Amino acid sequence: MLGIDDILVDGGVSIRDCLERLDGTGRRILLLIDEQGRLLRTITDGDLRRLLLGGCRLDDPLGTAEHDGPVIVSPGTTLVECRRIMDRHGIDQLPVIDDAGRPVGMHHRAHLDRPVLLSPPHLGSTEALYVQEAIDSNWIAPAGPDLEAFEEELACMVGAGHAVALSSGTAAIHLGLRLLGVRNGDRVLCPSMTFVASANPILYLGAEPIFLDSDPMSWTVSTNAMARALEESKAEGRLPAAMITVGLYGQSPDMEQICRICEEHDIPVLEDAAESLGATCGGRSSGTIGRVGVYSFNGNKIITTSGGGMLVSDDGELVEEARHLATQGREPKPWYEHEVCAYNYRMSNILAAIGRAQLEKLGSRVAIRRAIFDRYESELRTDAPIDWMEEAPWGTSTRWLSAGLLRADRISMTNMQLVQLLSEHNIEARPAWKPMHRQPLFEGCQYFTHEPGRSVCDELFNRGICLPSSSNMSNEQQDRVIETIRWVCRSTSRLRA
Ligand SMILES: Cc1ncc(COP(=O)(O)O)c(C=O)c1O
Repeated sequence: MLGIDDILVDGGVSIRDCLERLDGTGRRILLLIDEQGRLLRTITDGDLRRLLLGGCRLDDPLGTAEHDGPVIVSPGTTLVECRRIMDRHGIDQLPVIDDAGRPVGMHHRAHLDRPVLLSPPHLGSTEALYVQEAIDSNWIAPAGPDLEAFEEELACMVGAGHAVALSSGTAAIHLGLRLLGVRNGDRVLCPSMTFVASANPILYLGAEPIFLDSDPMSWTVSTNAMARALEESKAEGRLPAAMITVGLYGQSPDMEQICRICEEHDIPVLEDAAESLGATCGGRSSGTIGRVGVYSFNGNKIITTSGGGMLVSDDGELVEEARHLATQGREPKPWYEHEVCAYNYRMSNILAAIGRAQLEKLGSRVAIRRAIFDRYESELRTDAPIDWMEEAPWGTSTRWLSAGLLRADRISMTNMQLVQLLSEHNIEARPAWKPMHRQPLFEGCQYFTHEPGRSVCDELFNRGICLPSSSNMSNEQQDRVIETIRWVCRSTSRLRA
């Protein structure tokens, strides 16, 4: 709802002043009030033109001529209802009137129709400042002071020994797996409930993924499934060369338990914390518990460099080798010398400048995303049958995405239908990740369920929903999401008793 102080006029004001006010505010509407401040009518450009055509002069007072009462709403009217009233009356603006008849705000169609996106980037003013400094110093290359500083600052913030900034999280997973020794024909354990970027690098290396189900409480990898996969691999005499864990929707898996199991089999762990930068597990930062950790700064992540990633590890030699492989494997010679086939995976100094500004705000971004989740949870508790993703007892989630499960026993609407209905209101929601073992790309790969006969990540995919969660989401945008879900649940009579 927008403020109205600049668009209130009384009958004594001249038509000329009204035209100037319309021009100056750009609001395309004025609210004519009486001496007690009560709304008499709305005034548009067209109304003023009609007065002039009817013989009034520019300096005549507007007056308080009789007029049909304007379409109004009370402060408690939901945004969904306001939008429907606008449609019904063919209007784009709707005054909000208190009990005494005084205008207290205004709804605008353009405002209510503005898309609410799932997780758009959230940049502030320091980003531009830091980028300008990088441009002014002409450090536009994949080297430079911001790059080094970004690596140091991130390593320090999460408590990792070393860090190297890369062109993407996917590149970091690729290098990480290669440096953990994954080779052609190896097997790699990987959660099925993830974005494809966790698993693609396994294929880059000619290795074979073994997918693992999710735990029904935390949604992160099931240690039951992991134990069974290890048992079978051991019996076959082909233990996996590495294990990838994923911090799902901002929540770390139980890294201590996973690392303990992996240590028993001498299997190194790569921690894909692309979605869980800022989360903790056992008091440590997500991404710093496995041998190698990976972060992503893709545009939809909790902090972004538009595109980018970071590989972290306490193993300094491993990180140095990652840096070497990321820079075409160039040897430290005065000429261009190359001994290994490598990659162009370095982040640019300009993007690192954005990253540094973003990193300063990580704590507040986490707090905002958590507050957004809490609001969804409390405000939809009685009106929407959603079982929210639980916060696991071993850590703190960032709630990168607010995720929950539609309760099949209470609602007949599917998660895909809800996504569609929300998109009709310009709200972007998504179903939970489609599991990797369901992807045509990974057809034929092994998959271990949480328990025999129960595939938890299929349940998550069939009923899971992720709601808009960006830290730059306004309160009003969150109201819209909440009210639209309530309205969809009520008006479609899909709620079961
Ligand atoms: C779990 C997970 N892993 C890896 C990635 C890949 O990161 P990037 O997009 O930076 O390559 C993403 C997201 O993009 C992700 O969600």
